Amino acid sequence: MQLTFLASFSILAGFVRAGTVVWSGSFNSYATPADFERWSWANQTGTYQWYIHGSQPASHYLALSPDYKNPAHTSEQRGLKLTIDSGATWNSQMERAELIPQTTANLGTGTLYYHFSVKHTNNNPPDSTFEHQIVFFESHFTEFKYGVGPRPTNLVWMVMGQEKWSTPFTADTWFNFAYEINFSSLNVGLWASTGASPLTKVVNNVPASTYTNSADFHVGVLRIGNTPAPEDWFFSNVYIEDGPITTDQGSGSPPTTTIPTTPRPPTDPTITTRGPMQTLYGQCGGSGWSGPTACASGLRCVAVSPPYYYQCQ
Ligand SMILES: *[C@@H]1O[C@H](CO)[C@@H](O)[C@H](O)[C@H]1NC(C)=O
Ligand SMILES: *[C@@H]1O[C@H](CO)[C@@H](O)[C@H](O)[C@H]1NC(C)=O
Repeated sequence: MQLTFLASFSILAGFVRAGTVVWSGSFNSYATPADFERWSWANQTGTYQWYIHGSQPASHYLALSPDYKNPAHTSEQRGLKLTIDSGATWNSQMERAELIPQTTANLGTGTLYYHFSVKHTNNNPPDSTFEHQIVFFESHFTEFKYGVGPRPTNLVWMVMGQEKWSTPFTADTWFNFAYEINFSSLNVGLWASTGASPLTKVVNNVPASTYTNSADFHVGVLRIGNTPAPEDWFFSNVYIEDGPITTDQGSGSPPTTTIPTTPRPPTDPTITTRGPMQTLYGQCGGSGWSGPTACASGLRCVAVSPPYYYQCQ
């Protein structure tokens, strides 16, 4: 009896999460792609905003399945397959599909660990002749790239546009990462592992202009260039925690705990939206702007006085 108790206690202890989850991007609450479309400017529901994509329905770009997660993430019910193609063209020279957090939590304070896992297969693999930006912030102070530099088939971790680490992006392997971002001392480090292995720190923190408006952590991919060939990217175990870092992959996805603070509406005027359309000479972006960022048909969102004021013309 005593032994049984001790054994089960130690198993549970192994699953204890180290930090507090400040935002969970678990796909457990998204059973179908249509669930992402419930989010709108009028009804900012769910844990993700979904408005950076092409004109097709969410099911054209997103798919959910238990087959799409890292099997090590035992409490994730499913992972995400994200597809980019010529139907996801933005600003004529980029193809992109991204999810960003919908939360009132402050995702840019103290030291936070931004966790995600990424994979590709040999079906619709990424094309290394094009630059890709993967899981980035709007200012790109840190991100992964693919299709760049002397080893274009590597996943390359960048800080302020400089390569800091890279690994061959082999098919059918889950790559687990956490960006360790210290918003107080303005630096960022990288934790990494593959498969079910625990994360280890692979790059010590280096200086960076760490900043997020708490709605610009782009979970997805931007491909620079126009090509019709679709690419499938898989994502799993997305969450942001306060330290100390949880290195274990086996503990699965976190509970959907959030710490509400000040609401931070999205302010990026450059991304396409499917929400309400702004009319001629109406504001479509700028610091603090939380209204529509899409312009009515035939109009463009013009940077009249960046970064403060953008207008539909
Ligand atoms: C907002 O979205 C939620 C979740 O989809 C839904 O239950 C609710 O009815 C919506 N509210 C409005 C005002 O549409
Ligand atoms: C973040 O930076 C601050 C200020 O330099 C430091 O006191 C703190 O220990 C750092 N946090 C972590 C987790 O390293």
